[in-house]
Amino acid sequence: MSRKHRVQSLKSKTKNQRPKTKIAILVSFIAAAIACNPAAPPRRSFVIAESKSYEASLFRQNCAICHGQEANGKEIDGKLIPSLRYGEAAKKSEAEIYDQIANGKLPMPSFKNQLTEDEIKKMVKFIRRDLQGKE
Ligand code: HEC
Repeated sequence: MSRKHRVQSLKSKTKNQRPKTKIAILVSFIAAAIACNPAAPPRRSFVIAESKSYEASLFRQNCAICHGQEANGKEIDGKLIPSLRYGEAAKKSEAEIYDQIANGKLPMPSFKNQLTEDEIKKMVKFIRRDLQGKE
């Protein structure tokens, strides 16, 4: 088959395609274009409720009651419990966050007797890496 011949037969194939097929091709092109959009945000923020990690379940058991289900902070009896994602929490060092969890700071209780040292370290990492997007 010559090149010209092949192009022609290809053209006639496209022409004979049913409209449904053409629509399907168009739709898949649009979908691909949307998926490749460089302006789309790179990563959704971490959703604690959807996470099956050990740290997320520790958070749900020990911290969510005050800091909120998604650690965005909460108001209890007119007092604001801070977010662990933004604000002051995001300015704290690893050591300061560790100290806050282990020793507490009124009205936040100490977790030294509820969590092991390893669990507190895991929570520090969880706050910094998963919630604040730091290394
Ligand atoms: C009884 C409510 C309560 C519980 C439970 C609680 N917190 Fe807190 N937490 C607070 C309050 C209130 C503050 C603000 C303290 C202050 O004013 O300095 C705070 C502050 C913090 C801070 C410092 C944030 C900042 O903005 O300075 C961190 C980090 C933190 N909590 C982590 C945790 C973790 C992790 C847990 C679970 C293991 C937890 N907290 C459980 C009430 C609570």
